[in-house]
Amino acid sequence: MTGPLICRRKGPLRGAVAVPGDKSVSHRALLFGALAAGETRVRGLLDAEDVRSTRRAVERLGTTVRVDGDEVVVTPAERLREPDDVIDCGNSGTSLRLLTGVLSGVPGLSVLTGDASLRRRPVRRVIDPLRKMGANLSARDGDRVPPLVVRGGPLRGVAHVLPVASAQVKSAILLAGLLAEGETSVTEPERSRDHTERMLSGMGVPVRVEGLTVTVGPSRPRGGRVDVPGDISSAAFFLCGAAALPGSEVTVRGLGVNPTRTGLLDVLRAMGAEVSVAGERELGGEPRADVTVRARELRATEIGGALVPRLIDELPVVMAMATQATGRTVIRDAKELRVKESDRLAAMGETLARAGARIELFEDGCAIEGPARLRGVEVKTRLDHRVAMSMAIAQLFTDGEAVVLDDVGCVATSFPSFFDLLDALAEGGGP
Ligand code: S3P
Repeated sequence: MTGPLICRRKGPLRGAVAVPGDKSVSHRALLFGALAAGETRVRGLLDAEDVRSTRRAVERLGTTVRVDGDEVVVTPAERLREPDDVIDCGNSGTSLRLLTGVLSGVPGLSVLTGDASLRRRPVRRVIDPLRKMGANLSARDGDRVPPLVVRGGPLRGVAHVLPVASAQVKSAILLAGLLAEGETSVTEPERSRDHTERMLSGMGVPVRVEGLTVTVGPSRPRGGRVDVPGDISSAAFFLCGAAALPGSEVTVRGLGVNPTRTGLLDVLRAMGAEVSVAGERELGGEPRADVTVRARELRATEIGGALVPRLIDELPVVMAMATQATGRTVIRDAKELRVKESDRLAAMGETLARAGARIELFEDGCAIEGPARLRGVEVKTRLDHRVAMSMAIAQLFTDGEAVVLDDVGCVATSFPSFFDLLDALAEGGGP
């Protein structure tokens, strides 16, 4: 689905759904599988544009990826080869940053680029630390943005201290560390998502985690099995909608509940929604559970500090939900939102304000005064899937007015079935 879309649904949201596989885990399954000594069989891989970008990239590096029943099988090459063309990462920052780490240690020349959104996103955050390891990298506009050129070669391990918590940067460095001589460590100011650490460990790589520091040495993952849980960043749209729309009750089955990703559940509880987590189980190193959210009168909350990396991708829809809570919700320490697929603080702030929300923007966050009945609005989605989906949820907070999304092609980057599942829940069903 591309082009404009008129959203005009009514709550409540009711029913049980499963959401597609986690995007972060899916990227890693393909990429670590490509680095591995043996085959990797992946169950539940997300089939969406961002993950296809990683798939095309690893194929260009000599990896074979095929579908076998309900599994995707990654067969690595003897060693990764120099790509015979530019690698187009589309909209996917994770593909570009993680590949930069890997390619830094693969002999040959690689050029990484992406769509107009990705070509505005910062890459110096990976270039600087990788250079300290001996990597030969350069990028457009004084090493600021893609396209990015990598001349792979020998690397040496370095102890890095990151100025911001970033799982993409941490992972790029750790992947380079697998190919480097000596030990490589990364220390973050707050803990970002730890899927890389978990999956590498599951593939037999010795990974040492001490406080906020992660250390690896030269090693080759052995491959194996990966079971991808449902993506909490996709479920977030339904869970936030359900929390705020009276009479709603939504269950998401098989949802990833890795504690580095569940900040949203903490926020929903703090705002007064009823959240229950049932049947928690661990499969292949990643915990999952059936999560139910029931609507309650929402109250404002404060979000900041170590909580922020645990719900960074959910903040756009949290902003939409906060318009329905009584009081002043304050989000701080979230400057990273400005360098995602769009400047999400500006995009959501400006759009929600036009829809009638009382919202004040800060450099690192915002304050939202609620509750406010929203109005229909025209939305520029800015090649940002999460802005598009967040505003489709915000439409439910109008009195049946239309929210017109100018282009919903971006939704396919992470969640192609989003509108179908939303329809099923809005009609009270669920597959
Ligand atoms: C991701 C990490 C996060 C997140 C992004 C996916 C990952 O970014 O926003 O959507 O898969 O590592 P950071 O690098 O800022 O943590």
